[in-house]
Amino acid sequence: MRHVGFIMDGNGRWARRRGKSRTSGHQAGAETVRRVVRHAVRLGIPYLTLYAFSTENWSRPRLEVEALMSLMERFLGSETPGLVERGVRLAAIGDLARLPAKVLKALDRARDATAGGAGTVLTLALSYGGRDELVRAARRAAECLAAAGKPPHALTAEAIGANLDTAGMPDPDLIVRTAGERRLSNFLIWQAAYAELYWSDKTWPEFTEDDFDLALADYSVRVRKYGGPDPAGIDTGTK
Ligand code: IPE
Ligand code: IPE
Ligand code: MG
Repeated sequence: MRHVGFIMDGNGRWARRRGKSRTSGHQAGAETVRRVVRHAVRLGIPYLTLYAFSTENWSRPRLEVEALMSLMERFLGSETPGLVERGVRLAAIGDLARLPAKVLKALDRARDATAGGAGTVLTLALSYGGRDELVRAARRAAECLAAAGKPPHALTAEAIGANLDTAGMPDPDLIVRTAGERRLSNFLIWQAAYAELYWSDKTWPEFTEDDFDLALADYSVRVRKYGGPDPAGIDTGTK
């Protein structure tokens, strides 16, 4: 297990069920982020990627977007010392140029402060959309080809992968989504080609270390075949 991704969903539902504001749901979700990151570090998981804000989430009401952005800014500031202490290196993927200047600044500070971390790489997917990432990667790859005087059919999957925001990271082995929804919602759509998927009915604020362990236990008994023959070698295909 090298890389686990989380689609952190259900903050709004958690809040609504308690008669609270969506903002307080996002605040409660931030607590789960803290728990999950600490647990991943304890387990020695090399890469942890959290889907925090999608390209589509920009279409939410302005007040909710603003609340999420200021929560992000505060969270980055308050969490950085703990990340440094735990040897976590912070990274970010997505169309970061769309983020408010304050968030970008907090993100840059956190990335600089944690740059020496040799433990878990924590990647925040912020203003992230898999299609947006693919388009940007394809454009860059095409520019490289053109600059080298090569034709379009010289484009390879490796060249696209190398131009994705996740270049250099292993593909996710496991993607966990909370709140009972069973879809990727534009998360790592290229990289998830052979990811194992796990759906938890808990909302993100309710998700605990034990729930994380359940997801990992479920993953550990999956048989990954990548389109090849059954690794157990017992399926003769004649039945
Ligand atoms: C996840 O919770 C947080 C973000 C997508 C930013 P939601 O806000 O999507 O919560 P629900 O889906 O409305 O319950
Ligand atoms: C996916 O959750 C995005 C994040 C977790 C950041 P959404 O709540 O935005 O996804 P949909 O709208 O239910 O597909
Ligand atoms: Mg949602």
